[in-house]
Amino acid sequence: MNIIVTGGAGFIGSNFVFHMLKAHPDYRIICLDKLTYAGNLSTLEPVMDNPNFRFVKADICDKEAVDKLFAEEKPDIVVNFAAESHVDRSIENPQIFLETNIIGTSVLMDASRKYGVKRYHQVSTDEVYGDLPLDRPDLFFTEQTPIHTSSPYSSSKAGADLLVLAYYRTYGLPVTISRCSNNYGPYHFPEKLIPLMIIRALHDESLPVYGDGLNVRDWLYVEDHCKAIDLIIHNGKVGEVYNVGGHNEMANIDIVKLILKELGKSEDLITYVTDRAGHDRRYAIDPTKIHNDLGWLPETKFADGIVKTIRWYLDNEAWWQPIISGEYQNYYEKMYGDK
Ligand code: NAD
Ligand code: TYD
Repeated sequence: MNIIVTGGAGFIGSNFVFHMLKAHPDYRIICLDKLTYAGNLSTLEPVMDNPNFRFVKADICDKEAVDKLFAEEKPDIVVNFAAESHVDRSIENPQIFLETNIIGTSVLMDASRKYGVKRYHQVSTDEVYGDLPLDRPDLFFTEQTPIHTSSPYSSSKAGADLLVLAYYRTYGLPVTISRCSNNYGPYHFPEKLIPLMIIRALHDESLPVYGDGLNVRDWLYVEDHCKAIDLIIHNGKVGEVYNVGGHNEMANIDIVKLILKELGKSEDLITYVTDRAGHDRRYAIDPTKIHNDLGWLPETKFADGIVKTIRWYLDNEAWWQPIISGEYQNYYEKMYGDK
């Protein structure tokens, strides 16, 4: 089995590459990644010499490069993780989100049609459903929840989802979509809440909490997400959407306090800053469908996963230290300087 994994040098994609090479030692995994600011080749170093692994630097919007790779590898399955993924950046500059997340998806699906790919899997997000109110803990996102996006990021992901379903209906491309909640774990880029807070707390720097800090996310340990995608590409039904996540809801402020407690740091580091524009209040997934149809359930509880994650960042400074120097400093100053 030949599988092209796009965005495999990023957070979830790299964890998926590791998972697949371990779970299916007879598969060939080809990673296609542009290596944007979020892609890191050093993450993939442990598998670079694996004869079942190949890395190709290319842009998913580049038709020629994508076509060439598909012609060479004749993939059975394509799993598309490649995306611009940070909501705050999408508020600053929406256009690149439309290019990579929508146009890139269409380029990959055109190649998938041309080369007779048996499954095109789109990695999407629960953010396409918009948000839920804090005072209705009984409400959850199901696959029937209407698309109702808030940010340029979530709108670009929703646009891609609609295009994927259109390729299924119009051309019969065998597609599946997974809509996952917030992931956390190793190799998470330190612009996102959990790694940002861990690394800043380690340096005794202020921790910028948006708004009142009460926004809720449904956190999923990244390995659980990888296992869900593995199940969907093998056993999922073509044309279907699967929600992935469930029942690990946490308010941002509670996560920040938990990180401080684990690291033995003072809550005085917490700084409430101007809220994110259009900030979604609560995400919460109902995982009934993927549980009933494919037998998947998240295995890692947040209380355990967060401790493992903090430990990983303590043990892997060599991974994140080069990232937070240079360009990242300018990013932090630009995004948080006048908040
Ligand atoms: P990430 O930002 O860590 O990684 C994205 C990867 O895609 C990087 O390696 C980057 O170099 C690559 N990339 C970006 N533009 C590209 C292009 N034009 N061509 C080729 N490669 C390109 O993202 P992530 O957090 O690992 O998210 C992966 C996927 O999962 C995304 O599609 C995202 O929307 C989705 N998702 C993420 C989360 C989350 O909590 N992180 C939750 C639900 C869904
Ligand atoms: P983030 O990790 O950016 O993921 P998403 O916006 O896709 O859910 O943010 C998670 C939550 O943390 C979100 O409610 C915004 C909040 N947040 C902060 O309070 N401070 C920060 O510096 C960041 C990056 C996020």
